[in-house]
Amino acid sequence: MKRYVHFPRVEGQASRQAHADLPQGTYEREISKEGFFGPAAHLYHRHPPTGWVDFEGPLRPHAFDCTQLVATQQSPWDAPELLCNASVRVRQWRLAGDMPSLARNADGDELLFVHAGRGELFCDYGHLAFESGDYLLIPRGTLWRVTCTEPLQALLIEATNNSYRLPDKGLLGPHALFDAAMLDTPRIDEAFLGQQDDAQWRVSIKRRNAISTVTYPFNPLDAVGWHGDLSVVRINLRDLRPVMSHRYHLPPSAHTTFLADRFVVCSFVPRPFETDPGAMKVPFFHNNDDYDELIFYHAGNFFSRDNIHPGMMTLHPGGFTHGPHPKALRNVFQQSKPATDEYAVMIDTRDALDICPAAAGVEWTGYVDSWKSGT
Ligand SMILES: [Fe+2]
Repeated sequence: MKRYVHFPRVEGQASRQAHADLPQGTYEREISKEGFFGPAAHLYHRHPPTGWVDFEGPLRPHAFDCTQLVATQQSPWDAPELLCNASVRVRQWRLAGDMPSLARNADGDELLFVHAGRGELFCDYGHLAFESGDYLLIPRGTLWRVTCTEPLQALLIEATNNSYRLPDKGLLGPHALFDAAMLDTPRIDEAFLGQQDDAQWRVSIKRRNAISTVTYPFNPLDAVGWHGDLSVVRINLRDLRPVMSHRYHLPPSAHTTFLADRFVVCSFVPRPFETDPGAMKVPFFHNNDDYDELIFYHAGNFFSRDNIHPGMMTLHPGGFTHGPHPKALRNVFQQSKPATDEYAVMIDTRDALDICPAAAGVEWTGYVDSWKSGT
């Protein structure tokens, strides 16, 4: 267990309870280590910490409009990389019909988030349908293909050389956020048995990000059964049951869905706003400097961000102070709606992310100015 230098105290005008009962006219900023789990301080500023008039140099927030990436790819390995580092690769994949061959990722577990579309996954473990909002966790080495009845637009989130795990639910108990019994697994059903044939099938295997192709004179998805505790699993965003407190704005780490050694995947789904008069109703300003924060906006109205629409992605690198946009900030203690209606997937990485050419090509360069009042 890590031991930090620990000495909680209060200096000057400050609230004793984070995210509540702020000194009159101040703006709270959290400086936090370990992704909101480690030592932290809450500073009470006279001005919004995002009230800059100019921003120069390589450190800056980024926004990418992935809806402009309209090309389709028959293989997931041809999907353009958007952001990556040694621990994670994020791609956007569009598939218009059926994959003509099989795929296998030998580089790491793949988490597929279905932004749009509907279809069927056939894999070593059987058959599983998918639709918008689904996470499909495909363990490293699994042989798979998909067929689409509605065009697929998905994020592929590779845990490079690593495995996805479920978060420790701690005091909440093991059935909070979602019950593990909600994880669906593929079935050896009639649709699966019906696709087994003696036609020639090709398998594209990705290893060290290079592709090798193996050809079989039959469909290698030919299992008649399996047992064990390793399989593809599926859960939909709509099946997540977020925790909230009516008196306290919980940090984003409360919404962790999956994690690997060097990054976490969190899901933002609708939840009621806090009702306590002194509790903050929008995300607090923060420096989460041990992490880069990447958010993909799936659906709904993104209450703390102006000028962001579904299919966009934002990157807030470590070292960048951020928080609610000006419009949202006006509602910090007063919300006109009873609940959020946003659906988003956040990928927080312990190591800096590199922006790949496909993402750079659809960047909205004015994002850094979007915190200026009146924009
Ligand atoms: Fe953040």
